[in-house]
Amino acid sequence: MKLLCVAIAMSLAACAPAESGSGPEPAGDTFLAVDSSFTGFRTWESFPLPAGSSLTIHTSGARTEYLNRAPAPGRTAFPVGTIIVKESDDGPIDARQVFARVKRGGGYNAAGAAGWEWFELKNVDEERVTRVWRGVGPPVGEKYGGDPNGGCNGCHGAAKDNDFVLSPQLQLEMF
Ligand code: HEC
Repeated sequence: MKLLCVAIAMSLAACAPAESGSGPEPAGDTFLAVDSSFTGFRTWESFPLPAGSSLTIHTSGARTEYLNRAPAPGRTAFPVGTIIVKESDDGPIDARQVFARVKRGGGYNAAGAAGWEWFELKNVDEERVTRVWRGVGPPVGEKYGGDPNGGCNGCHGAAKDNDFVLSPQLQLEMF
């Protein structure tokens, strides 16, 4: 990193950890993810879910969730900068379903899963993704969950006590 910074020989910003969202916790109270924030997400801590293990719109097949940074023990919410990616396990990499949620903070999505921004991503290759959409929910008409107005906040609203995160493996009390 030092060498890289010297080589770049520019501002301190050039020395910030590159790209991937698995670096240190961001300092501010808002985190705005970009495509490269998800780079290399398969190297993050992973939580496999076997096929058919719960009701989800994402896929009934085997799927894996990836967490960029575990919350500190005793937290009642995931910190700003938390990224959770959920990917279906089978099929060619560019055909997999990839959803994500990012703790953006700053009052975002206050009427839904407060603080969280939702994403659908598409794998470019083993390392990189590109964004299909981002926001407080999917674009109108996507019909996720069988409801024409169905969004992400609906089902996930049931997990308010766990900061709107549903997975049994990502319960705050487990960290
Ligand atoms: C029909 C209910 C339902 C809807 C609608 C829904 N989810 Fe989920 N989601 C789940 C369940 C259940 C889990 C727990 C893990 C599992 O069983 O796959 C989950 C888990 C996740 C996770 C992993 C972190 C977590 O919360 O456990 C992400 C990321 C995610 N969903 C994204 C989305 C996005 C993006 C949308 C909107 C496009 C969405 N979800 C809409 C049911 C839903």
